[in-house]
Amino acid sequence: MNRVNKLKRYWARKDDAKEYFKWIIDYTKPYIPQLGLLLSFDLIATLLSVGMAIIGKTMIDNASEGNLSELASIITIYVLVIVGGQSLAIISNLVSTVVYEKFGFGIRKKVYRRILDTCWLDISKYHTGDLMTRLTSDVSAVSDGISSTIPTIIRLVVELLVTFFTLAYYDVRLALFALLVAPITMIASFWLGKKIKYLQVKVQESESKYRSFMQESLANILIEKSFCLEDYSEEKLTKLRDERIYWVFKKNRTNMYASAAMGLSFQIGYIVAFAWGAICIANKTITFGTMTIFLQLVNRIQSPIVGLAQVVPRLISMLASAGRIIEIQDLPKEEYKGLTIRNENVGVKISHVSFGYSDELVFDDASIEIKPGEVVALVGRSGIGKTTLVRLIMAFTKNMKGSIAFYNSYGEEIDSSPDARHFIAYVPQGNTLFSGTIRENILIGREDATEDEIIAALDSAAALDFVNELQNGIDTVIGEKGVGISEGQAQRLSIARALIRNAPFLILDEATSSLDEATELRVLDGIRNWDPAPTCLVITHRKSILKYCNREIQIADKKMREAI
Ligand SMILES: Nc1ncnc2c1ncn2[C@@H]1O[C@H](COP(=O)(O)OP(=O)(O)OP(=O)(O)O)[C@@H](O)[C@H]1O
Ligand SMILES: [Mg+2]
Repeated sequence: MNRVNKLKRYWARKDDAKEYFKWIIDYTKPYIPQLGLLLSFDLIATLLSVGMAIIGKTMIDNASEGNLSELASIITIYVLVIVGGQSLAIISNLVSTVVYEKFGFGIRKKVYRRILDTCWLDISKYHTGDLMTRLTSDVSAVSDGISSTIPTIIRLVVELLVTFFTLAYYDVRLALFALLVAPITMIASFWLGKKIKYLQVKVQESESKYRSFMQESLANILIEKSFCLEDYSEEKLTKLRDERIYWVFKKNRTNMYASAAMGLSFQIGYIVAFAWGAICIANKTITFGTMTIFLQLVNRIQSPIVGLAQVVPRLISMLASAGRIIEIQDLPKEEYKGLTIRNENVGVKISHVSFGYSDELVFDDASIEIKPGEVVALVGRSGIGKTTLVRLIMAFTKNMKGSIAFYNSYGEEIDSSPDARHFIAYVPQGNTLFSGTIRENILIGREDATEDEIIAALDSAAALDFVNELQNGIDTVIGEKGVGISEGQAQRLSIARALIRNAPFLILDEATSSLDEATELRVLDGIRNWDPAPTCLVITHRKSILKYCNREIQIADKKMREAI
């Protein structure tokens, strides 16, 4: 029974490797011509070096026979081959710099885009530090692997074959002798391979933790200072670094063992071959020329074998990193259906919706309708599900039962999907500004908005006064998460960013919570008078907003109902 399980696991792993290779090939396809060019440079260099060994043999054999007449032409060829080899190395180096850069970025761009296209609920479970590690360090391991490890393997195999057959041409026994080292290296790399894969995953996981901690700590530096956490954080970072060092050390140690074992067998192989050659010379079964070519080629035949064995750990590390990227790619993708309805007078019908992030439901058979043109307040105690309802409306979640459909006054209707976001403007809870100028932030709402439209949006969000007072006006640069302006000012800029979208459905999630009452009323007036007037869903804890709304919906007991 145990053996059956072992066998099953073995096959499952084989399938994994197949999937990884398939994934790698998909990414490599567009770059095959460039990588092929680099590979052909490598192969030519290999042929040139074997050629040099043959020229060397001819030279020595001619000399030992006292035949010096062709020496000049042989030396000329020798020099030409050396110059050719050097020039090729320079060209190959320059081309490879460009190809590797482009190739690495090509993969990174695709993985980045895939993260953006992944269902929000799934991807939000990953720490951004972890995602960054996958995007940078894991992608680098894969792209380096494809652009250098795989071509290296091909080159080494070709080198091995060419050298073996050249040697066999002069003396088959010598050729076989030179291969003595192969079985040892094969066994060593197979045995160590499994361990190295496991260690690579551990290294990358510890890298993710380390990075996530630093990223979060730097983003919340104010909290670190307020709670006097400087020493504690430094200690924590040191602990995480120690964990990382532990795995890096273990992985490198295993790599070193592998290299040392192979190096040793290489040396032994060389000595044995040398002694064998000496015996052959003594018996006069080979010439001095053959001995020279043998000594050169024995080196060349063993180095690809050892090289291959050393490349195996790199290949395995690459597969482990590919696995971490594939894990992200296996998350469900959001599906755009390309469906939309005319962008006017949009309402939403929520029917018999049940949803929970886990088995615990947030909504259980909840229904409500928001009609076109209405301004509806959504109230309920903290943690009851207001933001969750927005996520359902905007199709950020999955596994929802029931239906959410948008419709317009033309009688057109579509189910909620990522496409619906095209006609929704959303002001989320919290500070969601990007670093950059105020103008850049507003243009996120609609990139082709004119200067006048930007001013109008700022005015309606009661932000124009304070923006005009800034030294650089709308070109003032604000920092990460709105550093440099107040919370209430950031909220007004977020509202302006949403208004300029001219979307027929506007969602405000406690978007005015930091404003004083007078400013809040100005903002609400601005939104109501915005042309084209959107249907509004306003989430709020404040009574003052209610008088601006046509209706009030309350969430309680996992249902939605009209508040009385
Ligand atoms: N990403 C998530 N994963 C798991 N559970 C979540 C997630 N987001 C929210 N929840 C849970 O779902 C419930 C509803 O949360 P939600 O954010 O919708 O509340 P809310 O009404 O918007 O609260 P608040 O007024 O404080 O913003 C809460 O119990 C919360 O713990
Ligand atoms: Mg909320």
